[in-house]
Amino acid sequence: MGENGAGKSTLMSILYGFYTADSGTIRVNGQVQAITDSSHALSLGIGMVHQHFMLVDNFSVLENIVLGAEDSGFLKPSLDRACKELTRLEHEYDLEVDPDAIIEDISVGQQQRVEILKALYRGAETLILDEPTGVLTPKEADDLFRVLRTLREQGKTVILITHKLREIMAITDSVSVMRRGQMVATVKTSETSPEQLAELMVGRRVLLRVEKAKPSPARPCLKSKTRSSRTIWVSPASRM
Ligand SMILES: Nc1ncnc2c1ncn2[C@@H]1O[C@H](COP(=O)(O)OP(=O)(O)O)[C@@H](O)[C@H]1O
Ligand SMILES: [Mg+2]
Repeated sequence: MGENGAGKSTLMSILYGFYTADSGTIRVNGQVQAITDSSHALSLGIGMVHQHFMLVDNFSVLENIVLGAEDSGFLKPSLDRACKELTRLEHEYDLEVDPDAIIEDISVGQQQRVEILKALYRGAETLILDEPTGVLTPKEADDLFRVLRTLREQGKTVILITHKLREIMAITDSVSVMRRGQMVATVKTSETSPEQLAELMVGRRVLLRVEKAKPSPARPCLKSKTRSSRTIWVSPASRM
């Protein structure tokens, strides 16, 4: 987690092979890896669901899942095989979508499921989701969290990028905080609090509740009487 602009997406894009790191090392299961592109990341079991989906709008769900992962130069044999595999994945992870639906006709929540299925179809063991709830309704976000819990139960690693404290507290096991391009802390969720995370995120104490000073009304500039004949005072200091 981290504030907007902290460098979360950049770091994840390095992990997924979109950008090259200037320094540092990436270890996958203890082995140092120089990840050169996204197909390399996928071959190491790292999949990513981007903040902005990367689907072909006028293609079907199934075509989108297969695209780029075909067995040969022809789409048809891959589609037949993929259909079976997709049904299996949908059952295993409780991720129902209609394989024949066209992307532009389905909801954003469903499109996100397609992105997740796409990564799973390519053998992702670690799934990175970059700000996945930003585009979702509260109900869709709850559905997504249910899916993420299932993925965890099935042994997958989920990296959830977010700046929403509520989501961190609700679903994660551990939290790493980024600030101005640096990783500043890693803590267990059960051993931290929203207050501590907010402080780590911005680098100083944060009041999550706004404390307002007592108003000090000055000379009234407008008086009016309501039907119950109470007097309402509007003073220059409290004018909007
Ligand atoms: N380690 C870094 N050093 C210098 N600039 C960085 C670093 N990480 C990110 N940036 C720059 O900071 C900006 C915001 O990064 P981004 O990854 O989009 O943040 P976030 O996803 O946390 O909102 C981008 O312009 C990015 O190029
Ligand atoms: Mg980002």
